[in-house]
Amino acid sequence: MEEQNRPSVDIENTNDRADEERNKLPIPPLLEDKNPEEGKAEFDLNVQYGKKEFIEGKEAETLGYNGDYLGPIIRVNKGDDVKINVNNTLDEQTTVHWHGLEVPGEMDGGPHQVVEPDTTWEPYFTIDQPAATLWYHPHLLHKTGEQVYKGLAGLFYIEDEKSKALDLPKEHGVNDIPLVVQDKRFTQDGQIPYDLGMRDVMDGFKGDTILVNGAISPELDVKSEVVRLRLLNGSNARSYDFNFSDNRAFHQIASDGGFLKNSIEMQEVSLAPAERAEILVDFREYSAGDQVVLRDGDYEVMRINIVEEAQQSSGIPEELVDIVPYDRDDVVITREFVMSGMGPMVAINGKQMDMDRIDETLNLNELEEWVVTNESSGMGMMMGDTPHPFHVHGVQFQVIERNGGEPPLNEQGWKDTVMVESGEEVRLLAKFNKKGLFMYHCHILEHEDSGMMGQFLVE
Ligand code: C2O
Ligand code: CU
Ligand code: CU
Repeated sequence: MEEQNRPSVDIENTNDRADEERNKLPIPPLLEDKNPEEGKAEFDLNVQYGKKEFIEGKEAETLGYNGDYLGPIIRVNKGDDVKINVNNTLDEQTTVHWHGLEVPGEMDGGPHQVVEPDTTWEPYFTIDQPAATLWYHPHLLHKTGEQVYKGLAGLFYIEDEKSKALDLPKEHGVNDIPLVVQDKRFTQDGQIPYDLGMRDVMDGFKGDTILVNGAISPELDVKSEVVRLRLLNGSNARSYDFNFSDNRAFHQIASDGGFLKNSIEMQEVSLAPAERAEILVDFREYSAGDQVVLRDGDYEVMRINIVEEAQQSSGIPEELVDIVPYDRDDVVITREFVMSGMGPMVAINGKQMDMDRIDETLNLNELEEWVVTNESSGMGMMMGDTPHPFHVHGVQFQVIERNGGEPPLNEQGWKDTVMVESGEEVRLLAKFNKKGLFMYHCHILEHEDSGMMGQFLVE
């Protein structure tokens, strides 16, 4: 199990990097809401070309939303009527998908909602789900991997009464920190071309350098207080096993779709591509001058410097929200999704994506059980096994079984993406409450682009 997650492309070990080579962690800004009316929100997103010096003195060609790389954070409240103006200034098509958001199919930003160059797409929807850390990214057929890799990705926060009332760190960029973790492969001159080799088509495109919010070897200054890290694995293909250098425990408080029932003490949290976790790290016992390193396995991801004694701090709430488990007796239909194949042949239920084919037709508000298996076994020692993180649009689901047993505690909250390792079986319960056409797919973007995706219609 452990082995399968290890990088096939080795990560450069930056643990010993000199202090002067470290970069201050960039904090993506909160996007301005142009609609002053209470309960309404309007945002402008420009999809644009950028240039970014990931490595000092070397400029890379990138893509970004409202900037050179990545995008601002869209923050809305539950119940808000939201409109977004997506202006495509590129000379190629794109789409913007709201990953994790429950909105009607036409607003979902999947491969059917193409935004042509020099046009604006204006989706609108009502926020109809609890507080969560979601994200947005392109979803153009066969081009998702490249556009995301070049920099198109941003976070999408939902807040609600509960998230506001809980005793949690809430100061954006101070003690509530967005962390978009990605890996890149740089050329000599600091570029990030998306050229797929044979291995990249097989395993997905993995880099040798880890970036957080677009920075290599980032460091973050905090006070000696409880700090909330909102982790997004925004990588094309790499999974991470996040832990801290001193093996200190932390508390996970949220999974993909929002808060967990209770905060969970743990020492390591694994995130497959597209998965999110919010964790609380308690620095109250630390003093100014102390340092802690956020790691992926043994590799340094980000250095955290405690620079100042805090006057006060939030706590670590034990109880978070109510999550009413679905009742399996209410299941109306059970569907199977078999992920199989290797490289360009990856498929779900033996089929590859066809824009003109609807694979499953569902009824609104009926409880469904989905059995997701991974039959992609490696060709022995040669290739290793192929993990597939399975993602479903338009819904947050409940994982009820992993390999016949109870799923780990941190998979018992709301999820929209779930890792299915080679040979595994995951069962989930889902109720779809928005109509339209949606996608399910593997979130290793090179697998998705190869056709490891299907369509379902909710009516
Ligand atoms: Cu994060 Cu179908 O996508
Ligand atoms: Cu999605
Ligand atoms: Cu896959």
